[in-house]
Amino acid sequence: MPIKIALFASGSGSNAENIANYHSKSSVFEFPLIISNKADAYVHERAKKLQIPSFTFPREVFLAGDEIITLLKEYEIDYIVLAGFLLKIPTSLVEAYPNKIINIHPALLPKFGGKGMYGQHVHQAVADAGEIESGITIHYVNGNYDEGNIIFQAKCPVLPTDTPDMIAEKVHALEYEHFPRIISELWG
Ligand code: GRF
Repeated sequence: MPIKIALFASGSGSNAENIANYHSKSSVFEFPLIISNKADAYVHERAKKLQIPSFTFPREVFLAGDEIITLLKEYEIDYIVLAGFLLKIPTSLVEAYPNKIINIHPALLPKFGGKGMYGQHVHQAVADAGEIESGITIHYVNGNYDEGNIIFQAKCPVLPTDTPDMIAEKVHALEYEHFPRIISELWG
């Protein structure tokens, strides 16, 4: 029986698309649904292209937990991958999927993590701090932002002349390269 993974994304969803495409020819994984908290997120367009149903949960409904858990159970979801998902995962959902939810963070945790550290804010903070490297962190999700056990990190150099956009580009390249593979290694 294929392992069923739900992809969660708040924005563009390029990681979600990359993961679904990477595994599209495998019989190991299925991606039966995509969840977002934004009705106008571009990830819904990508979902259409991938022929994966996508759902929007407004913030309050998502944070209450019950409806999302019901939907995930209905689709017999085994694991959850957060790929650029910005809401905190409610405790009830963490408890329903213990050690079965992973997130990707676009920096080298424990640095540059926590509330408010997402997207361009992270890359701006890395540039402002004069860091000489950044990268990605794939980690388990617990009740606190960016604090679950680290599964994998990969690094890229940051040059003094790099803008936040340039750092973002390098980090995205690492995400595309490693995230789908780490999913196989963990659950395949
Ligand atoms: C990625 O950099 C991810 O690490 C982060 O948000 C970004 C999402 O990009 N937390 P996309 O929506 O997958 O294009």
